[in-house]
Amino acid sequence: MLNGAQALSVSEAATIKADIEALIPGANNNGRKILQGGGGGGGGGRGGGNERERGDIIGVVVRLAFHDAGTFSTQAGNGGMDGCVLWDDADNGGLTDARDMLAPVYESHSSIISLADFWSLASITMIEAAGGPVIPFQWGRIDATSCATDAGRLPDAEQSHAHVVEVFTRLGFTTEEMVALMGAHTLGRCQTQNSGYNGPWVNSEDEFDNEYYRDLVGDRWDREERTTDLGVRHQWEDGNRLMLNTDMTLAFDIDGGDGDPNAGQPNACGGNNNNCAEQPSTRGFVDTFRTDQAAWFTSFTAAFVKMLGLGQGALQDLTLVSSPTQSSPPAPLTSPPPPSPSSPPPSPSPSSHLPSCSPQY
Ligand code: HEM
Repeated sequence: MLNGAQALSVSEAATIKADIEALIPGANNNGRKILQGGGGGGGGGRGGGNERERGDIIGVVVRLAFHDAGTFSTQAGNGGMDGCVLWDDADNGGLTDARDMLAPVYESHSSIISLADFWSLASITMIEAAGGPVIPFQWGRIDATSCATDAGRLPDAEQSHAHVVEVFTRLGFTTEEMVALMGAHTLGRCQTQNSGYNGPWVNSEDEFDNEYYRDLVGDRWDREERTTDLGVRHQWEDGNRLMLNTDMTLAFDIDGGDGDPNAGQPNACGGNNNNCAEQPSTRGFVDTFRTDQAAWFTSFTAAFVKMLGLGQGALQDLTLVSSPTQSSPPAPLTSPPPPSPSSPPPSPSPSSHLPSCSPQY
């Protein structure tokens, strides 16, 4: 296993990227089903209809990257995108699906890439496969040997605007970057057994487009309270789709003037029945991103690159590795890769090659 960085060539990264892409149904693997369980539209587990299966696989990998990087603290100077996730932490429910799906691919390349670099590459590969922007890949992340400082740093979807701002400020993001990153909720869905919430944010949960922002403002969202095994949860619903408090608060003042987003008022926001005031500090960015997808892609790309670098020192742009002289342009990462010399083993069982800092690996 490689804990830190050595030189990673364009062709090596392209091979790894191709192996990651092969995990996505409908990509270049003729719809090979990767994850076990599920089956059926609204049921638990990952699997079922092709769009949902693609959305699940793409979504959980992107969320994995956020939950690794999202433990960073600018004040403490620790945490971040370091290949370390507290698998038993309730905030990370369901992310072992991503870990186990990616593990065989990582094992076949773990001698040349750190886990943090691999998860970073996996997340940008998924976003690209969903029709999103091509996000530049950088390498050089060093895997942590302990997740000790990570606990309690991920955002709580029951809370409201001040909490979201507090978390993203701790991470070092601007308001624009914060709103741009939240648009990743256009991918995947919530599942009751993972988080207590249930439903996708948008209709096309396997497509990386600005539907999240369009629906946030354009649809009517009704506040619902649900009791689950994980506790009482509040979500805003339109049919089978949802928004979390932390999504709604980007566009609307959902606190009802008392600072409590779960007190019951207002009980519907958005669409033609809007009875909620706009959220002054973030609504402008929501409006920009919902009306200008290219502007969102630009903002998201910059913010996501920054997210993937949290807690790490200077990273290497991949093109610099294969192109020591500026005269010969590097091969694009998206160019067809050579055939992988090593296919992933069939079993996704955890391996001793994976870092001990991520418990249960
Ligand atoms: C205030 C900040 C955030 C909160 C409270 C939050 C909360 C959540 C919750 C509760 C889920 C459902 C998990 C499940 O049930 O499996 C989820 C899913 C997801 N989150 Fe976030 N999130 C936040 C920010 C972000 C950011 C910044 C990103 C990426 C840049 C992100 C990407 C995702 C994705 C892609 C999913 C779908 C996962 C899947 O389909 O399995 N989230 N989030």
